[in-house]
This record gives sequence, structure tokens and C-alpha cells, in this order.
Amino acid sequence: MKIIWAIYAIIYDALCHLLSYQELLQRARVALQEENDTTSHVLDAGCGTGNFTKEYLDRCKNKNVSVECIDASPSMLRRAINKLRAYTNVHCARVDLNQPLPYPDAQFDNIVCLNALYATEDPIKVLGEFSRVLKFGGKLVLANPTKEARVRDVFVEHIKMNLKKGWAGVPIMMKGILYSPIFLLIFLINFLWIKRLGAKRLYHFLDNKELSELLKQAHFRVLRTEHAYGGTDVFIVASKMLVSNDKFDNPLVCEIAQGANDMAALYRLRYTAYCEEMGSLDPSQYPEKQESDKYDEFSTHVIVRCGDEIIGILRLIRDSTHGFLMEECFVLPDSIDRSRTVEHSRGIIKKEHRDRGIYTVLLRGAYLWQREHGFITSIGAPRVDKLSLILLQMGWETIGEPSAYHNVVVVPMAFTLHKEAQNKAP
Ligand SMILES: C[S@@+](CC[C@H](N)C(=O)[O-])C[C@H]1O[C@@H](n2cnc3c(N)ncnc32)[C@H](O)[C@@H]1O
Repeated sequence: MKIIWAIYAIIYDALCHLLSYQELLQRARVALQEENDTTSHVLDAGCGTGNFTKEYLDRCKNKNVSVECIDASPSMLRRAINKLRAYTNVHCARVDLNQPLPYPDAQFDNIVCLNALYATEDPIKVLGEFSRVLKFGGKLVLANPTKEARVRDVFVEHIKMNLKKGWAGVPIMMKGILYSPIFLLIFLINFLWIKRLGAKRLYHFLDNKELSELLKQAHFRVLRTEHAYGGTDVFIVASKMLVSNDKFDNPLVCEIAQGANDMAALYRLRYTAYCEEMGSLDPSQYPEKQESDKYDEFSTHVIVRCGDEIIGILRLIRDSTHGFLMEECFVLPDSIDRSRTVEHSRGIIKKEHRDRGIYTVLLRGAYLWQREHGFITSIGAPRVDKLSLILLQMGWETIGEPSAYHNVVVVPMAFTLHKEAQNKAP
């Protein structure tokens, strides 16, 4: 089979002239950029001739991003290395996805795997490896051909997209005509070889449901599924979650909040807790019944979900020009390394779930995220009640005197993660 990838490599880049292929690359790039992270270490798994990585790096010029490009085919990889020669933030390596990946756990912020999973021997094993090397809350962007995929649809979509461009599409159409013998060859390779191996189940063409199920088994939450590449691919964006008490039908799942729906749900939960239950914030300030503030922009939100419902939340605030929220009330000791510290804030568990140990699950998620991102110190100002006592029992220390804040008494506390986490850069 190696020989086929070697032949395919010679003509593969003709695909770059197809609008449907360009759209697939752009869609994957946009999915990675959604969270607007300024730093990201990405794995491009089954990178082929490096087209996705080039698209990604060209659009992330001012960001601190780097890409590890891996492929099993030396011919594909050679072309990727040539194409990406000018970039200093790329490393290409020959890696077989059928083998355990040669990287430590939680090495990557995001993984992209476009039309390569189907060619591996055991997709669930590969997804398990992706899950291992991805950080908690990291994204996996996956495109994989479906069982019904008809190669001609890629070309049909190209023509449709081209026609929509009107006169601007003429040069693209001319190129298409020029490249038509190569397109015919690509069509034949897919039709005669890839489809056949799919029919023999040596290649894994999976529909949306099958792929989503495999992702769930590998501890990913599917954020969304779409069709792409002329409808021949299922396109999935998923994030790595932490599953607690796996044995129950409806396990608790700990995740990092992603996207507008998660944010709206957690802001609503905060409104209910702070404005309606505790009365510590003025409801009239939040007419949309969602409580948020200036620190959210600089925060990561850990959530616990039971089924589809978010039942627990905890915000981790990073230092910024606003400082930390608790500094509105306390002066932090100089010994705190601000760049490696997050403040635990707005820890809330839905009323009807308050006795299920959900806070412990939230803390596990928070510590895991902190360890993987190098935030070794946690600070917080819990109310002087059950929560501060729980934190004391868990090894947190008080770092100042209690003080009144929004008609409750709070106490400043801190906790430092184990020594081994201290070597990781933020
Ligand atoms: C259809 S190409 C897709 C390339 C690229 N992701 C893109 O979208 O342009 C499939 C790629 O998967 C690679 N591949 C197939 N099996 C692989 C394996 N076991 N390990 C690593 N790469 C593999 C092939 O060499 C090929 O480059």
C-alpha cells in the first residue's frame, strides 16, 4: 500500500486547485482558531504534503503557534518538508499512526487529522493515542470519508463554488481544465483503490454516528459535526474530557467550556447562584439573567456535565491588566508567582446536585488543566463556611485575615501543586 501513497504524493498537490479542498483546509483552520488562543502547539496527524499546516501558519503569523507534522509516507513527508521549509515553527517527522505515538502525555493543545484516520488499522486505538497526547480541554479537528462518499462530489462542489464566483471564477476554471488529466488520475486512485479498500473494511469509512461513538469511547466530547469536502467527509470538532465514575449510565463528565452555548449556560448558572440564591450581586445589573465580568476574558472555565446539563462550574482566572478578582479585597503576598497562578472563582454546583462530590470532580479537572498548562499555584477567596473548611482539608492554606466582601465574609487561601508540575512552562 506504501507504493500507492508514494504515487499519490506526486500528484496530490493538484488538489490545492480545488475550491472544495481549499474550503476543507480553511474550515479546519477556523475551528482551531475559534478560541482565539495566542499560544498553541498543534499536531497535524497524517499531514500528507503539509497543506493544512501551511494554511494554518500563514493565518497565525502573529501568534505563538507551532506544528508537529507527522505522516507514515516518506514521499508525502518529503513534500511537506519542502513546502514548509521557510517556517521555523514546524517540525516534520515520519510517524506511523498505527503505532503508539512517540510523544509524552498532554503534549499538544490541539490535533488536526484530515482524511487520514480512515487509512489506519484501528481508528479507536489511534483516537486513544490522540486523547493521551492532547491536553485536557484540547480540540481534535477530524475529517473522515463517509461510507456514501462519492469522489465525484468533490469535483461537483468545486464547479458549483466556482460558478458562484462569476467572472472571478474564470481563471480557476481554466486551471481546472489544465489540471483535468491529474484530477482524472486522483479520481481513479480514489475510485479504484481507496473505495475498494473501504469495501473490504481495510479502510474505515465511518458515518457521523459511528465516528461520534468512537470519539466518546476515547473520552472526547463532540462539539459539532458537519459535512465537508463536497459532502464526502464527516467533519467533527471534539474536545478532550475527563470522565468520572465511568461505570454509571450517566457519568459525570468534566470539561473545559467551549463555545457560546457553554458560556451562556454557565453565566446563567452564576446569575441564579449569585443574584437569586445568595443575593450577593444586584440582579438589575444583569437584565439578560447571565452574570459575567471583566475577568472572564482572561479565564478558563471548568465545567461538570451530567448528560447534557451543566451542573457544576469553576472559573480559573489568569493574571491580566485587571489583576485577580480577590485583589479587590486582599493584597497578595509577593511570594506568589503571578504568571504561574490562577484564581479559583465562581465555583458553583446546581442546587439539586450539591451532595454528589461534584466539587471534587471540578477540582480534579482544574488541577489537571493547571498542571498541563504550568499554573502551579491556585489562589481563592472562599466564604468562611463549609467550602473554606473543605479546601483546608485538601491542603489549601490561609494567606491572610478574613474580610467582608459583598455582604459575606471571605478568607484568602492558596494551594501549590506538586513539585513535578513546577517544571512546566506556562
Ligand atoms: C488523503 S491523505 C490526507 C493528507 C492531509 N491530511 C490532507 O488533508 O491533505 C492521507 C494521508 O494519510 C497518511 N497515512 C496513511 N496511513 C497512515 C499511517 N498509518 N500513519 C501515518 N500517516 C498515514 C498518508 O501517507 C497520506 O499522507
